[in-house]
Amino acid sequence: MASSTLTSPLWLSRSAFLLKTSLLPSGTRALTRGFTGPRQPPTSFSPLSLKPSFKHLSAIPSASGILAQKSSDLERSFAREDVVILGIETSCDDTAAAVVRGNGEILSQVVSSQADLLSRYGGVAPKMAEEAHSLVIDQVVQQTLDNANLTEKNLSAVAVTIGPGLSLCLRVGVCKARRIAGNFSLPIIGIHHMEAHALVARLVEKDLQFPFLALLISGGHNLLILAHGLGHYVQLGTTIDDAIGEAYDKTARWLGLDMRKGGGPALEELAREGDANSIKFSIPMRQHKDCNFSYAGLKTQVRMAIESKILSIENNSISSTSSQERRFRADIAASFQRVAVLHLEERCERAIEWAMKIEPSVKCLVVSGGVASNQYVRTRLNHVVEKNGLQLVCPPPSLCTDNGVMVAWTGIEHFLCGRFDPPPRADEPEDSMFDLRPRWPLGEEHSQGKSEARSLKRARVHPSLTSIIQGSAQQQV
Ligand code: KG4
Ligand code: ZN
Repeated sequence: MASSTLTSPLWLSRSAFLLKTSLLPSGTRALTRGFTGPRQPPTSFSPLSLKPSFKHLSAIPSASGILAQKSSDLERSFAREDVVILGIETSCDDTAAAVVRGNGEILSQVVSSQADLLSRYGGVAPKMAEEAHSLVIDQVVQQTLDNANLTEKNLSAVAVTIGPGLSLCLRVGVCKARRIAGNFSLPIIGIHHMEAHALVARLVEKDLQFPFLALLISGGHNLLILAHGLGHYVQLGTTIDDAIGEAYDKTARWLGLDMRKGGGPALEELAREGDANSIKFSIPMRQHKDCNFSYAGLKTQVRMAIESKILSIENNSISSTSSQERRFRADIAASFQRVAVLHLEERCERAIEWAMKIEPSVKCLVVSGGVASNQYVRTRLNHVVEKNGLQLVCPPPSLCTDNGVMVAWTGIEHFLCGRFDPPPRADEPEDSMFDLRPRWPLGEEHSQGKSEARSLKRARVHPSLTSIIQGSAQQQV
C-alpha cells in the first residue's frame, strides 16, 4: 500500500466516517428490500470461474481487445495501473466500499459502522444488520466513488464479498454490486471474506510472495492457513467453537465496557490498567497437539470470575463503579487477554513447525482480521515469529478490521489472473436469488488438522474456495 494514499484526504478512516445508522430516519423497513413474494430462479453466479465469457467484456472500453487473450496473459496485457476495481463488503456489521488501483493505490475507502446497534443489542441481529446495510449502501458506494473523483464508467470491474457471513447481509452488498455491474457492463468478482483478510497483506507488503502462513482472527473466525498460491489454501487449524473476537466482545460486555468503540478495542484499553497474572485462567486445548482453537471454555471461566465478584453481568457499566472495582475489572481484562493470546501463540508455534515441513520456503506469518489490530496481539506474535526466524506481516489496523480495500484488492488479484464473471443482465430482477455462501471454507483441511469436535458442525457447508478453483483449473487442462 502506498502510505501516501493512506494519508490522502480522500481516504476516510473507520472513525472519520461513521454513518450513525441509529440516527437515520425511522421507517427504515420501507427501504429494506423484501424477501417475500415469488422469487426468480437462482441467478447463476459462479464466483471466480476460470473461463469467463469474454464476449461480454468487449463492451468495456479499457478491456477491449485484451480479454480475448488467455487469462494467464491478462496481467502482462494490462498495465496494472489501468485496472480500477470497486470493492463492496457487507458480510457482517460494517458496510464498506473502496476503490483500489491495480498497483495497490487506494483511491478512496468508506466504512459505515453499526457499532451503535451492536452496543444497544449486544450482538449482530441479522435482520437489523441487513436493514442498516440497506439504509446506507447506496450512500457508502456513492461517497467512495465521489472521494476517488470517479464514476462507475471508470471502473474495470466490481468485487463483492459473497461469503462467509450472514446471508441477509451478504445479499445487500451482492445486489448493489450486481446492479452496478449490470448497468455499466462490468465484470463481477465474488470474494471470499477470509481470503480478502489474508491477501490485503500483499497490498501492504508488496514483496510478500506465496507461500506464506496466515493467522486470521476476527469476530467469527479463527483460522491458521498455509497460502500456497492465489486461491490455493490449506487449513491447518480453525476454531472448534467460538472465535477470539467473540470472546473479546463477550468479556467486554460482561465487564460493563463502552461497546460503542467496539468490544475488542475497549477491552484492550482496560487491560493496560490491569495485572495480567492476577487471575489464573487455564490455557485452552493444551492436550490437543494440533493447530485448532477453542474460546468457549475461556469465556465460561471469565464469566464465572466476574460473577464471583460482581453481582450481575447485566447493567453494570464500568463508568459507575469504584476505583477498586475498576481495578478488579482491569485485572480480569488483562488476565483474559494474556491467556487468549497465549492460545494464539501456542497454535502459531505449532503451525510454523508444520508449515516448515510442508513448505520450507515459507518466510512470513501474516496476521489479519479485526483482532489483529490489537497492539498486544501484534507484539506477542512478533516474538513468536522472530524466534522462529520468520517475518510478521500485519496490515495497519484500519485494513485488519472489515473494509472495502481488502475486497477490491482481492478482486484485483483474481481479475489479473482472469478469474471473474461476466456482467449480469442490466434488467436483472431485484428479487433474484443469488449464490451466497454463508458457510464457505477457504481451503481443505490439513490431515493433521482435523478435529472430531468440529466434524459435527459441517452440515450445509459450501465446497471450499480452493477446491472450486483447483477443480476449474483441472477442467481447463
Ligand atoms: O474482521 P472483523 O472486523 O469482522 C469480522 O469479520 O468478524 O473483526 C471484528 C472483531 C470483533 O470481535 C472486534 O471486537 C475485534 O475484531 N477487534 C478487536 C480489536 N479491534 C477489533 N479485538 C481485540 N482488540 C482490538 N483492538
Ligand atoms: Zn472480517
